[in-house]
Amino acid sequence: MEGLFSCLWCLSVRQIGLNGRILDFLDKRVLFVTGKGGVGKSTVSIALGIRAAMEGKRAIVVEVSSTENASRIFRQSDVGFKEVEMSNDLWAISIDPEDSMREYVLLQLKVKAMRDLLFRSRMFTYLAAATPGLNELVTIGKIWELAQLDRKVKHGRKYDLVIVDLPATGHGISFLQSPRTFANIARMGPIHTQARQLQAMINDHDHSGTVIVSLPEEMPVNETRNLEEQLTDDVNVAVDRVIMNGLNEESFSGADLKEIKRLRKSDDPEVRAAGKAAISQCSRTESQMEQLERLEGLVKAPITTLPFIFKPEIDLSCARKLAEEIA
Ligand SMILES: Nc1ncnc2c1ncn2[C@@H]1O[C@H](COP(=O)(O)OP(=O)(O)OP(=O)(O)O)[C@@H](O)[C@H]1O
Ligand SMILES: [Mg+2]
Repeated sequence: MEGLFSCLWCLSVRQIGLNGRILDFLDKRVLFVTGKGGVGKSTVSIALGIRAAMEGKRAIVVEVSSTENASRIFRQSDVGFKEVEMSNDLWAISIDPEDSMREYVLLQLKVKAMRDLLFRSRMFTYLAAATPGLNELVTIGKIWELAQLDRKVKHGRKYDLVIVDLPATGHGISFLQSPRTFANIARMGPIHTQARQLQAMINDHDHSGTVIVSLPEEMPVNETRNLEEQLTDDVNVAVDRVIMNGLNEESFSGADLKEIKRLRKSDDPEVRAAGKAAISQCSRTESQMEQLERLEGLVKAPITTLPFIFKPEIDLSCARKLAEEIA
């Protein structure tokens, strides 16, 4: 059982190219995108994937919680446990832990009768129900496999960057901690060894990193600070970037503001309503700027801002616009 993981791990360490260069965050092999629920993790994951592809990298966006956001944005319906090309150099996969375990067993067990027995008995379903964290562990195993340059799975492509769209904060943290939890429970043997190898991948700051997505509001900003601390201190994973998503781009000049204030005093109710809307937009932008400043004072990682896109649905062209904004 140890063979595959350890052998590929050695290979990956050699091929990452530890050449002393400080890696930019898109130069990492694995990026975990995390943040509070609904802040835009899935949208940002795809924008990062598009950005990486724009820079000539072959990237794959990995969904771990079967929400299939990539297929929604790219209007494709067939993202499952197989690698699907979404656009040039950008691929997507949705990892199902049971499929992941099946693939692993197929690679490991050469005796067909044994494999059939394992799958028929629904061993994994029972095991996963009885072992909290096993789903997360095998999912990270698959992420690790996707990041290898010498892939053993049939038709496995080489990716420069694996972008993982993690579940919201609490689940995201326990997801990243699952290898360490397993390594501590299984004190020795193959599970211990493999869990340690997955932990080493997460803790290797040259190889893996995280991107925290935040919003320009008080609570998400506070949570981002806490999340950065937890990821750094408790998980020991690099925090490469904080993305402040959904910033209002519009701002008004002093002359505009004077005009807007004058409109608010108009006799025409419609003009008054428009003036009021503009003023509230203006104060929203102001409060967002305050939150951005707070964030700058609270986190250590560099911050990238992304605009709020005023469209009923984020489609491919919106995702491209966001990708262009990621510097
Ligand atoms: N920059 C943006 N401008 C406008 N809308 C956005 C932006 N980013 C995300 N959205 C929208 O916000 C909603 C939440 O985004 P998304 O699904 O990416 O969040 P999430 O963090 O992945 O959510 P969950 O925690 O439920 O997985 C979606 O409707 C998405 O289209
Ligand atoms: Mg999501």
